[in-house]
Amino acid sequence: MTNKKQYKRVTVKSLVEMKAANEKISMLTAYDYTMAKIVDGAGIDVILVGDSASNVMAGHETTLPITLDQMIYHASSVVRAIDRALVVVDLPFGTYQSDSKEALRSAIRIMKESGGHAVKLEGGKEIKDSIKKILNAGIPVMGHLGLTPQSIYKFGTYTVRAKEEEEAKQLLKDAKMLERIGCFAVVLEKIPAKLAKEVAESVSIPVIGIGAGADVDGQVLVLHDMIGMTHEFNPRFLRRYMNLYETMTNSIGQYVSDVKSSDFPNAEEQY
Ligand code: KIV
Repeated sequence: MTNKKQYKRVTVKSLVEMKAANEKISMLTAYDYTMAKIVDGAGIDVILVGDSASNVMAGHETTLPITLDQMIYHASSVVRAIDRALVVVDLPFGTYQSDSKEALRSAIRIMKESGGHAVKLEGGKEIKDSIKKILNAGIPVMGHLGLTPQSIYKFGTYTVRAKEEEEAKQLLKDAKMLERIGCFAVVLEKIPAKLAKEVAESVSIPVIGIGAGADVDGQVLVLHDMIGMTHEFNPRFLRRYMNLYETMTNSIGQYVSDVKSSDFPNAEEQY
């Protein structure tokens, strides 16, 4: 029997309580109304309107091209669908790095125009002022450390981050700083499981991992990857729960053949 608290609506406070109660946090991306309705109805704790929409929805090679207006469009579609989950929205590349005033303006637009509940920003000490400015306006912030895809051209590859001691130390420092200034949670992407465990044990805010092992406070995956709609992206950390790519391809193939052969529509499927 579990004594887990039931949350009618998940808030940033609920997530901190979940960590304190040793309850793992579930998080998935969604970018549109229909998918968000399914994800929320299935009981997810957090929906991330990730800038991975740039790849998944728009077909760009990186997350860099997506705009603030496009993120607001995706986020407002998601917000209209949800009854329970906390909705976190990524601030896209170029909307918070130049100065803290611009960062605040971008975060305010997300909150006002999409109805999202919190924002996520990639980076540590280099964006501390921007995060503080947003937090001072009463907007909850989720941090994101490790592999930060908006900096892909600095890294050069999507390989595991913070394997070297110096980078690992800085990551731990950054996580503590994010906690200290008031972030409610932090995502750790593609770092060694041992380091992720150390971070999760060193901060009281929830640590959500993607490719960061099991010893963190929650997990996040890109929805289209975990349901197998995408099929070319196969990192070790990804567990596919379905093969929708195959199911859809076969179903659509069947439809094409039914139309061509005049099998569809039949007598019952018409007026
Ligand atoms: O944009 C995104 O989907 C993300 C997750 C991979 C954490 O930031």
